[in-house]
Amino acid sequence: MSCISGLGEDEVNSFFESSPPLKNMEEIVQKLNAFIHLLNSSAGGRRRRRIVCVTSGGTTVPLEQRCVRYIDNFSSGNRGAASTENFVKAGYAVIFLFRRGTCQPYSRSLPDDPFLDCFQFPDNTNIQVNASHVEAVKMAVMDQQAAVAEARLLKLPFTTIYEYLQMLRLIATALKDVGPCSMFYLAAAVSDFYVPWKSMTEHKIESGSGPLDIRLAQVPKMLSFLRTYWAPKAFCISFKLETDSKILIEKATKALRKYKVHAVVANELSTRKEEVVVVSSSGNVVVRCDSEKPESIVEDNLIRLIVDRHSTYIKEFST
Ligand code: PMT
Repeated sequence: MSCISGLGEDEVNSFFESSPPLKNMEEIVQKLNAFIHLLNSSAGGRRRRRIVCVTSGGTTVPLEQRCVRYIDNFSSGNRGAASTENFVKAGYAVIFLFRRGTCQPYSRSLPDDPFLDCFQFPDNTNIQVNASHVEAVKMAVMDQQAAVAEARLLKLPFTTIYEYLQMLRLIATALKDVGPCSMFYLAAAVSDFYVPWKSMTEHKIESGSGPLDIRLAQVPKMLSFLRTYWAPKAFCISFKLETDSKILIEKATKALRKYKVHAVVANELSTRKEEVVVVSSSGNVVVRCDSEKPESIVEDNLIRLIVDRHSTYIKEFST
């Protein structure tokens, strides 16, 4: 790998070298390859199928190797799950790289608390869905099964920042040959600081010895690496989350220039379900849900816009 100054190559290499290896790496690689193979063969002589890696949920930073305590990044996974459903609807195959326990595609309309209230046992051999939830459960099961059976959805879970970044790199490497038909849609909330594995205590930190001082190292920004080395031909959408709306667009614009992604989706924490701004070199577009349609969500219009932009990118790439 050649060196581009300013990308923090040493930091990235040392991050990966010092990370605990993925426990199920072979299984992940095998699932990825099988998914991509199926995608290519199902395309047959037709137009090449598009594929998007949607990242979703927050990464954790363990404080102990045998982890009891950790630092978390907020994300319910709703954005990633809703976006995945819309990408599948638009004909994409989706690799859904998600935080364990966060919101899943096709499950958004199911009650999560208490989920078991959906069901009842009229006798010992039958399970029934309560009438009030029949439609939601039926749609969730049918849509999810169809997406998996038609090779439109592959779900890969992560928990820690170590797992997330290693898996993102594996996916990018596996998708390299798909070129401009591939997309990265990076909605996960990724840790900016972490405790390097080698300097982390093995056992649970003792609580009897007064206040705790922890020095966190900076997680190298992987966006530059993704764009420059891992998937240089892929269409790349990153996200910017702020709690102060006054600095949101400025920060998103800076990220667009710095990481040379194709667009940055800017959102403010408290209004993220109603409105986002797509910041790109062709200007800023405010995207909202349709006020006349009560069931409309912001991702319906957001994914429509992103898919349009991706189509233009593929056309420009091939001319
Ligand atoms: O899940 P929900 O509750 O529905 O909420 C959705 C959301 C608010 C989490 C989502 O819309 C969102 O904004 N996600 C990105 C939040 C975030 O982590 O922003 P950031 O400023 O920390 O990172 C910006 C970009 O840099 C991200 O695309 C991230 O993938 C990338 N990054 C971050 C850290 C790092 N070390 N390397 C990176 O490449």
